Amino acid sequence: MASLTIRKLDETVKAYLRLRSAGHGRSVEEEVRVILGELIQGRAEFPAALPQAAPLVAARPLRAPDRPGAAVQARVTLIIGGGIAAYKALDLIRRLKERHIQVRCVLTKAAQQFVTPLTASALSNERCYTDLFDPESEFDAGHIRLARDCDLIVVAPATADLMAKMAQGHADDLASAILLAANRPMLLAPAMNPLMWNNAATRRNVAQLARDGISMIGPNAGEMAEANEAGIGRMAEPLEIAAAAERILRPPQPRPLAGKRVLITAGPTHEPIDPVRYIANRSSGKQGYAIAAAAQAAGADVTLISGPVELDDPAGVSVTRVESARDMLQRVEAALPVDIAIFAAAVADWRVANEGEQKLKKTSAGMPPLQLVENPDVLATVSKLRDKRPPLVIGFAAETEHLIDNAKAKLARKGCDWIVANDVSPATGVMGGDRNTVHLLRRAGADIDVDSWPVMTKEQVAAELITRVAKAVGGSS
Ligand SMILES: Cc1cc2nc3c(=O)[nH]c(=O)nc-3n(C[C@H](O)[C@H](O)[C@H](O)COP(=O)(O)O)c2cc1C
Repeated sequence: MASLTIRKLDETVKAYLRLRSAGHGRSVEEEVRVILGELIQGRAEFPAALPQAAPLVAARPLRAPDRPGAAVQARVTLIIGGGIAAYKALDLIRRLKERHIQVRCVLTKAAQQFVTPLTASALSNERCYTDLFDPESEFDAGHIRLARDCDLIVVAPATADLMAKMAQGHADDLASAILLAANRPMLLAPAMNPLMWNNAATRRNVAQLARDGISMIGPNAGEMAEANEAGIGRMAEPLEIAAAAERILRPPQPRPLAGKRVLITAGPTHEPIDPVRYIANRSSGKQGYAIAAAAQAAGADVTLISGPVELDDPAGVSVTRVESARDMLQRVEAALPVDIAIFAAAVADWRVANEGEQKLKKTSAGMPPLQLVENPDVLATVSKLRDKRPPLVIGFAAETEHLIDNAKAKLARKGCDWIVANDVSPATGVMGGDRNTVHLLRRAGADIDVDSWPVMTKEQVAAELITRVAKAVGGSS
């Protein structure tokens, strides 16, 4: 495949591309991809006259999330300096990406002694930049674009040398030129030997950078890479840096559930047949985990009781992992009282009556008979509690037919307040998938209100549900 060098395009075309890409908050390269896509699909719109001159970049306000818990699409230019801690910057790329932050890396010459541009670009899924005078760069003033086509510049590790250059305003390589040309917030994660950190020159530079309004995280106290040395100088951990970056990037969210205790169940249950076999269902736990994350983002104190799933614990949520329906009920009861209980787990209705103590063997007598008995009903049990019944109990109804009718019947039968009904027929791809089409059924006196939502991601469903929960329990959203 041939590649296109934007730098070699006609000046007027470049000016148009710069203006259009800045307006859309994209890089010039991304903008060209969008234009080509539109052209092929016959949707392209071009201006009557191309602009004669255009500003190199326009200020790009960070897009705010439109609902609690929703991710902001933020971009970070990550400058990796030449210190031992450069290897931790590779983990930082992953930690930022986990938070839905796009990362574009710049490596100093010294940094390349510790980590390779190839690794940084593979982890970030973006080209990695190293040279101020780069004939291959798709940007004709790469340092300006890298400085401004982002929402935050993170320097990790920030070496003594890079901080000295910043404090003095040097711009003799790509990293320092970006830092001098930047009009975005900057976050430094210094890392160096304690003697370097305590040196009078570094102290002056750190003080100057603080006066210049530059944020810092760390360094932490601890052991150094050098044998037998300890003190202040270790780079902050990637998780700490990512959290600090997120605090700068994302404005404080409303916390309508602050002070509320929320209990959530998620995932399937596994009902043992013998020590190695079990009965299960196809629930992935994604919807319940998304609800837990959204409730946590809304300020709630969240306990998640999870069946066996392949998901990471949502940040800031207290997670208890269980196997069977009986374990789940026991943990749920132990977690009470709470203000709100949301039962999103797909609890198995039945279990095997006589669980084998040893692995069942094939015999000439044929298949062993599996007798099933009913499991405890977690939703109904909690809904019917006298003393510890949560003020708001929400169940889920996963149905494959007569969705609304079955959900209405379930609402009455279980005694909960709301039911979230979803169609889990194989054709919908809901079980294990990332999207969900739900109907929220709420008691309204003797009637039941049915609110049908369009197809959404499970995160969006979670955010919508938590917004309604906050309104119902008197929180402001
Ligand atoms: C093995 C080794 C480890 C180093 N570790 C650090 C460090 O942790 N912090 C630091 O400020 N400098 C450290 N240096 C010195 C920097 O690499 C040196 O000052 C370099 O010029 C920094 O370049 P940069 O700021 O452009 O990345 C180290 C040097 C070597 C050889």
